[in-house]
Amino acid sequence: MWFCTACGADSPKWAGRCPACGQWNTMVEEKVSAGAASGSSKPLGGSRVKATPKAVNDIAAVDEPRLHMPSEELNRVLGGGLVKGSIVLLGGEPGIGKSTLVLQNLLAIRNKRILYVSGEESATQLKLRADRIGRGSDNCFIVCETSLENIFEHIESIAPEILVVDSIQTIATDTLDSSAGSVGQVRECAAALLKFAKESSVPVILIGHINKEGTLAGPKVLEHIVDAVLQFEGDRQYMYRLLRAIKNRFGSTSELGIYEMQQRGLREVSNPSEMLVSRHGGEELSGVAVGVTLEGIRPFIIEVQSLVSSAAYGTPQRSVTGFDAKRMNMLLAVLEKRVGFKLGVKDVFLNIAGGLKVNDPALDLGVIAAILSSNVDIAIPHGWCMAGEIGLTGEIRPVTRIEQRITEAEKLGMSDIIIPAGNLKGFDTSRVSIRIHEAAKVADAFRILFG
Ligand code: TYD
Ligand code: MG
Repeated sequence: MWFCTACGADSPKWAGRCPACGQWNTMVEEKVSAGAASGSSKPLGGSRVKATPKAVNDIAAVDEPRLHMPSEELNRVLGGGLVKGSIVLLGGEPGIGKSTLVLQNLLAIRNKRILYVSGEESATQLKLRADRIGRGSDNCFIVCETSLENIFEHIESIAPEILVVDSIQTIATDTLDSSAGSVGQVRECAAALLKFAKESSVPVILIGHINKEGTLAGPKVLEHIVDAVLQFEGDRQYMYRLLRAIKNRFGSTSELGIYEMQQRGLREVSNPSEMLVSRHGGEELSGVAVGVTLEGIRPFIIEVQSLVSSAAYGTPQRSVTGFDAKRMNMLLAVLEKRVGFKLGVKDVFLNIAGGLKVNDPALDLGVIAAILSSNVDIAIPHGWCMAGEIGLTGEIRPVTRIEQRITEAEKLGMSDIIIPAGNLKGFDTSRVSIRIHEAAKVADAFRILFG
């Protein structure tokens, strides 16, 4: 059989372009034994019992029973805990801390039997890691196994209440000839584990590796099999790690969990703003602006640093970390054309503190303010922050959830906030003591900041 590595579609013959998803050059050949091929097309559970359609209103609504995880950040991303009988895929680049995150959480659950299947590390390696994190539960069992059939035997003997498979790409079933990590194997193994989760209502956590392109290696297929896909990301050079839900059948996908990797495991960062704004020892520096951004529904305050200097060589340099480079170029063009700053001959460096990647357009105003501040070499006073999206005409456009941004800024002791004009609508400003400045255009914001 030929399988598409992008979407997992199968086809009896090779094709240059996947008939299902249209990607080029993604079909790979895999040997499938006759039994497995027909097995995978059977509905899960193989039951022939017909279900009778019911009116939506007649279906009793039951709250999904959830297992509360020790880490509150993880609970939030899961939508309130691990749902019984659900299957969760935790993806991330190698070395980002997936095994640490899961092991650390499991070791802190004392009253549940847990089976941790590791296909990647030896029991001693896992023990070393567990010791690093600290002594945990006596009910957490570890087995190094890569055969799916053997894993089910272990499940029978241990009868776990939570099952972890680290990683799905290392396990293989005997029914297929292909090697572990191939599309067919990943799909068969995940389907078997899914069936186990639904029948036993034991939650299953699958760990999966992400390849360079940022997709789960091959098994894109997994994304529609599983109930939730969590992604653990971060820059390996920095210690911050972000946990996002990409898909969640039992919760919102806009939640974000923040961790810090330390010597003794991951630490939850429950107030991200405090760590993202550096203090500079009370000194006011030019080129530093504070933006109020939103990740999911959680507002936080982020420091933008910029350095603008005369280009030493012919072509000016543009260097960005943590922000979209194209977007910065657009903002520079707006500054040049609409506000009249000649930045075309300057080197511009931009950095988002803490190694975070921010996609929220409301950070535009902070980026522009940092660049302008460095350009005129005037520091933005302490306690000032801002939020606003910049349009091509130089107007400052309204942003979402402005009330939350304002309250978060106030909570963190900010004294002044610049927001887009007309963004407030019904918000009752008398409830907050932070001074609110409205700006309709970049030029207005510039006047407010630098006079
Ligand atoms: P790991 O969980 O093995 O990553 P993954 O399972 O995603 O491949 O974590 C790997 C990194 O984390 C490793 O480089 C060491 C670091 N680490 C710490 O800094 N502190 C710790 O307490 C632990 C356990 C790991
Ligand atoms: Mg690992």
